[in-house]
Amino acid sequence: MCGITACAGSDDVVDAVLTGLKNLEYRGYDSAGVATLTEEGIGVHKREGGIDRLVDVVDDSIAGRLGIGHTRWSTHGAPTDENAHPHTDCTGSVAVVHNGIIENYDELRGELSAAGHLFTSETDTEVVPHLIEAELAAGHEPEAAFRRAIDRLEGSYAIAALIDGTDAILATRRGSPLVLGVDGDRRFLASDVPSFLEFTSRVVYLHDGDVVRLATDGHEVTDADGDPVDRGIDTVDWGSEDAERDGYDHYMRKEISEQPDALERAVRGRIADDDRDVVLEDFPPGTFDGISEVHFLSCGTSHHASLYARQLLCDRGVPAHAFTAGEYATTPAPVSEETLVVAVTQSGETADTLASLRHADAAGARTLAVTNVVGSTAAREADDALFIRAGPEIGVAATKTFSSQVAVLALLVERLTEDVTGTPSDDREGMLSALRALPSHVGRVLEESTAASLAGRYGEADGRFFIGRGVAYPVAREGALKFKEITYEHAEGFAAGELKHGPLALVTRDTPVFAVFSGRHDTKTLNNVEEVRSRGAPVVAVASERNDRVLESVDECLAVPETHPDLLGVLANVQLQLVSYHVADLLDRSIDKPRNLAKSVTVE
Ligand code: G6P
Repeated sequence: MCGITACAGSDDVVDAVLTGLKNLEYRGYDSAGVATLTEEGIGVHKREGGIDRLVDVVDDSIAGRLGIGHTRWSTHGAPTDENAHPHTDCTGSVAVVHNGIIENYDELRGELSAAGHLFTSETDTEVVPHLIEAELAAGHEPEAAFRRAIDRLEGSYAIAALIDGTDAILATRRGSPLVLGVDGDRRFLASDVPSFLEFTSRVVYLHDGDVVRLATDGHEVTDADGDPVDRGIDTVDWGSEDAERDGYDHYMRKEISEQPDALERAVRGRIADDDRDVVLEDFPPGTFDGISEVHFLSCGTSHHASLYARQLLCDRGVPAHAFTAGEYATTPAPVSEETLVVAVTQSGETADTLASLRHADAAGARTLAVTNVVGSTAAREADDALFIRAGPEIGVAATKTFSSQVAVLALLVERLTEDVTGTPSDDREGMLSALRALPSHVGRVLEESTAASLAGRYGEADGRFFIGRGVAYPVAREGALKFKEITYEHAEGFAAGELKHGPLALVTRDTPVFAVFSGRHDTKTLNNVEEVRSRGAPVVAVASERNDRVLESVDECLAVPETHPDLLGVLANVQLQLVSYHVADLLDRSIDKPRNLAKSVTVE
């Protein structure tokens, strides 16, 4: 959902800005641009298309020591050269990049146009350089003009601006992410840490309302009132190699392969040596005393991980609901101080999730963020945060973060079960030892999967259905989501029991059905399989290698190691990730950057 970058240093920063953009391309990739402050004033290059097209047109004419950049995922206006950022004012002496949405742009544009400002794009962002221009023309100093301009904005934004005649980049955030990187005298700004990870792992997390001056010899942060604030420097434990492709054709493939390591980190130190208890440092036994129900809020893949956790909690007698965050923000479910609201979000920046989290907080619920990003807005705004430790995920389609979310949520489920019901779950020890074994089981799936050979036969079809029950239901939904995201082919995921209530009308011999079996409720799911087989649909089961009953009943099977039925879904999901990946690869799709999608959606 758009990425912004900036760099200030003692040498030319164009390469650093372009590298930062390249690393952020997963946030948007329909157009890109860069602006610098040169000896002759502000120089801008921008183009429709990905960063590579921009790199082709950038030349020495814009060499400078202060630079800003942008990679776009269109919200206002088509992906064209004109709508690409940076946007400039009438005089070409102010250039601005922006991530977010300016909700009152129509009104501001009307006012500025009436005052004689000329607009050249259809974007909401373009009002910002013109507002700054107007404030400068009214006699305000650059920083005051910048502050006065952003005071007029409603909506969400992270903004970086270059103003001719100044010696610093000015930037601010409200509701959209912006982090600062520190590397000696050189400073970086970006929507996300992987942008500058190859230069530095020292970061400053900015707060909403902060204004930062990025000069060639350092930075200064002030709050919304203009008072200096010390935001401190943190060191992230992600290395640059974590954000590189490492010989794989796609980040997605690399991230699928990284799941054993990611899962190892997710559970490391969080399970007692005898597998009898959960050890969550900030959540000791009793943490959730007084909680009587749990609401999960999330979007996309994170919603499927939430549905998974909901099944586990309900199974253990804890009332739980999983809501899509966009709907929750529109129609919030009633909460009380006994409600634990868990925002599950890889990025910690998804606008729908943040909006729903804020609703729940204002209504008096206790809040918890389960996220991958330390310092993210969700982590900072929720009462507590629990980190999934998956490392950076660059592929737009979430893979390793789903597995890590489920593993960490499973630990949380065990803690909640004991605190809410007063007794540990019936098979806590079995569950925890299966969680400990999960990394090696996923490793076996990766080594032994036959998904690649199957992909050639299931790429061409009228559509595909994914079905499952219990924890296999969210996996079916996730399998279908992954498939459509990266293959652009039709796929739908259903609760197995729902198939007969409508979708069955679409089932033919040209609609393969992927049926996920967890080892529980298999008889019923096998009945549903019979319903589709009798209509001629080929069936691929995803089930334990020891599930003979299923193996004997279907045309084809993707087998996974035997494990606790509550975790079998994680293994099945890895098989489905591989199916989608190989089909998309055969179809030559843009796997890491599927059309129209963005990794982190920071607008509602
Ligand atoms: C976007 C991404 C999805 C992701 C969803 C939620 O739609 O394309 O892959 O699952 O956002 O993101 P979050 O960061 O909140 O988990």
